[in-house]
Amino acid sequence: MPDAVSSRLRSTRRTPGRALISSERIGRRVRQIGHEVSEVYADIDTPLVLVAILKGATVFAADLLRSLSIPAELEFVRAASYGAGTRTTGRVKIAHMVEGPLVGRHVLLVEDIVDSGRTIDTILKRFRKLRPASLRVAALLDRPARREIAVQIDFTGFVIPDRFVIGYGLDYAGLYRELPGIYALS
Ligand code: IMP
Ligand code: MG
Repeated sequence: MPDAVSSRLRSTRRTPGRALISSERIGRRVRQIGHEVSEVYADIDTPLVLVAILKGATVFAADLLRSLSIPAELEFVRAASYGAGTRTTGRVKIAHMVEGPLVGRHVLLVEDIVDSGRTIDTILKRFRKLRPASLRVAALLDRPARREIAVQIDFTGFVIPDRFVIGYGLDYAGLYRELPGIYALS
């Protein structure tokens, strides 16, 4: 089924039907989150460290960064979960870590979607060991239906139903990240 869907989407048009969340709605919500984040961190005395979780969160992180009215640095972390497909298989490892110390820094992890919670949980555990002054999570999407590990999300874009989604950085088999809106795979 996923391969059939995939080739159908590629062969017809790049936008698979009606968006679950339009690019306009995403834009408005990301600007709101940027405003909230800027208020929460208004009084910190070092630049915020925005850490985008590769690769899916890069599009969200780029827009969020430009919605901030406070100084911020940009870093990247890469988590690899074993296996491919539309479900997280279980074990998650960190494949690329941020450069430089985070001791005493205010860190905001930026994720595209929190699904089982395993990816963000693994990254949070690793980052806590680096003794940041604060550690929070901004997730564009929250899909609570498949949660296996409870995680606190400090800034949430949209809570979505139990559908696999693509677009705005989110991929299926490496494709569709370029779509400006978010679409559900049927
Ligand atoms: P978790 O570890 O199960 O919470 O999964 C989070 C990671 O799985 C995200 O960083 C995404 O890369 C990927 N992921 C989960 N659900 C989707 C989806 O619906 N579309 C695309 N990627 C997803
Ligand atoms: Mg992915």
